[in-house]
Amino acid sequence: MSPTKPSSVYGNITHRRITVNDLARAKQEHEKWAMVTAYDALIGGALEEAGIPVLLVGDSAAMVVLGYDSTLPITVDDLVLLTGAVVRGTSRALVVADLPFGSYQESPEVALRSANRFLKESGAHAVKLEGGQQVVPHIHLLAASGIPVMAHVGLTPQYVNTLGGYKVQGRGEAGHQLLEDSLAVQEAGAFAVVLEAVPRDLADRVTKELDIPTIGIGAGNVTDAQVLVWQDLLGLTPGHKPKFVQPYANLRETIVDAVSSWQDDVVSGAYPDLDHSYS
Ligand code: KIV
Repeated sequence: MSPTKPSSVYGNITHRRITVNDLARAKQEHEKWAMVTAYDALIGGALEEAGIPVLLVGDSAAMVVLGYDSTLPITVDDLVLLTGAVVRGTSRALVVADLPFGSYQESPEVALRSANRFLKESGAHAVKLEGGQQVVPHIHLLAASGIPVMAHVGLTPQYVNTLGGYKVQGRGEAGHQLLEDSLAVQEAGAFAVVLEAVPRDLADRVTKELDIPTIGIGAGNVTDAQVLVWQDLLGLTPGHKPKFVQPYANLRETIVDAVSSWQDDVVSGAYPDLDHSYS
């Protein structure tokens, strides 16, 4: 399936998957790009058709797919299954799988075992893990083992219980630590870093200091790339919206309206009409 709206990163790349080298080139050439989460084959394919070069099978699936109230309960087995679906539904996008809570923190070797499962069993092209200096040895081993690693600093939802909630990170003095963490994950071999819920000026500073792409979510428009959860981007998620979420569609309303019209037709007998019945 070729993308109908190639992004700048796709450029003339129509015959193969995006690689981490393409993203490194985009940074050098100051090209911005977008990453969106995907958790199944059809949505992955549609996002790729829209020209999205990088798809993230995020542990946010715990909340938006499985209905948990945090990302902590999702397992490697759960995410391997979803990642395989996204890989099978796409042919161009770089598919990044999140290492879930408890699958890497213990040691670099445990991280390698978990990451290997994603590459072998689901066909993921890269993994993402959360944390700064504390995961430097983990990133180092994975990268040295041939596994591209996307890092994630700032608001790291797997650490919600130690952070004391989902709060903006890196304000004031803490900004220095966040910059140090970003430099440390780059030095360890990460190919990109997600900056979540950090002040715009800090994201700007980190983006300028790093040679690898920064991917913002709640970090202003100064990062090299942006990421959103697809259900937030397309207006499917009900209830409270974080400040940075700007829905570009209202899928929830579309679904509710369409399904209730169909139900009305079922109840009245208008569906299925003769055109939609076998003779
Ligand atoms: O799990 C996820 O979806 C994420 C993104 C929001 C960055 O980590």
